[in-house]
Amino acid sequence: IFAAVEMAPRDPILGLNEAYNADTRTTKVNLGVGVYYNDEGKIPLLAAVKAAEQARLAAQPPRGYQAIEGNPAYNSGVQNLLFGAGSDIIAEGRVITAQALGGTGALKIGADFLQRLNPNATVYISNPSWENHRALFEAAGFKVEDYPYYDASTRGVDFASMRAKLLSLQPGSVIVLHACCHNPTGADMTDAQWGEVVEACRERGLVPFLDMAYQGFADGIAEDSVAVNAFAASGLQFFISSSFSKSFSLYGERVGALSIITASKEESGRVLSQLKRVIRTNYSNPPIHGGAVVAAVLGSAELRAQWEDELAGMRVRIREMRSGLVAKLQERGVAQDFSFVIQQRGMFSYTGLTAEQVEKLRAEYGIYAVSTGRICLAALNSKNIDYVADSIAKVL
Ligand code: LMR
Repeated sequence: IFAAVEMAPRDPILGLNEAYNADTRTTKVNLGVGVYYNDEGKIPLLAAVKAAEQARLAAQPPRGYQAIEGNPAYNSGVQNLLFGAGSDIIAEGRVITAQALGGTGALKIGADFLQRLNPNATVYISNPSWENHRALFEAAGFKVEDYPYYDASTRGVDFASMRAKLLSLQPGSVIVLHACCHNPTGADMTDAQWGEVVEACRERGLVPFLDMAYQGFADGIAEDSVAVNAFAASGLQFFISSSFSKSFSLYGERVGALSIITASKEESGRVLSQLKRVIRTNYSNPPIHGGAVVAAVLGSAELRAQWEDELAGMRVRIREMRSGLVAKLQERGVAQDFSFVIQQRGMFSYTGLTAEQVEKLRAEYGIYAVSTGRICLAALNSKNIDYVADSIAKVL
């Protein structure tokens, strides 16, 4: 039965981990996957997470099945993070949230649900976008196309082209938007542009799907909700996938959520009932631990404040690595102006390095980056930044 199975290509992002792990050079650096490492090059265990975990393990909780949609305290914590506690949209019963297996799991159950609602819709992703968006929506049965987003000449958003494209789409088209810290470019829209995107979605009857994987990595939890709040205020229906992989440093625990914003409480009940069928036939119900830990942190004023401090610490360190890299490239006499790296938001920089240069970085220096030129600044530290700057200067 497997005789005709062909070898699949490596995943463009996670496949780099496999190659990196197999590399025996001690100077190797993994700037591929979007993971935050501390200055010691370790994935941190946040103190707020540790405290919540210790309390949870001491309580020796039973391990029964969760509800299909997951932990209610967690789901409510997710909503409060997105919209702010006490927001109208929550009070009106217009938001349903299901705990999901990371941001990817949230996108997947959202995609499967949308496929049942409107199998012939086209899904539009930004050009460029996170590598898995296209594959994921195609795997759910959709035709996937893109909308203009990044302008390499300005290193910013080509908003006029994006808006014109949105205004040309068929009603019912699904439009996947990066709520903040655009992956891979780090180029976000302005508040006013978000307002125009909301209006375009209203005018054309589009289905917005916001991917929120980096809340807190641009300016802060509340500050990074601009897009979510603009859609919330519009009265439109939309989807949000949340991920806490990065913000809680809980990558392997797969802690995410899908929120769907409906027109009314009555509609919410029907939508949740259908979403539960999608979840039940995918993985039945989500695992307990990660969601319980996040719920405990979000549910305690003290742990929540500690977590936001730790998140701010990650944000600040990434910014330091941005300016550090730019300065070090300059010191090495690199002619090209890399100051745009300082403006980009989130974990990534879309460096403009070509696929050949990226390959040279890997082959000659053991530095791994995505072939599109995306590097993860959160993997730089005070010990490897000089080596990385040296190597980039050489391949340039
Ligand atoms: C990334 O873009 O590197 C992260 O979101 C990890 C992943 O799942 O691809």
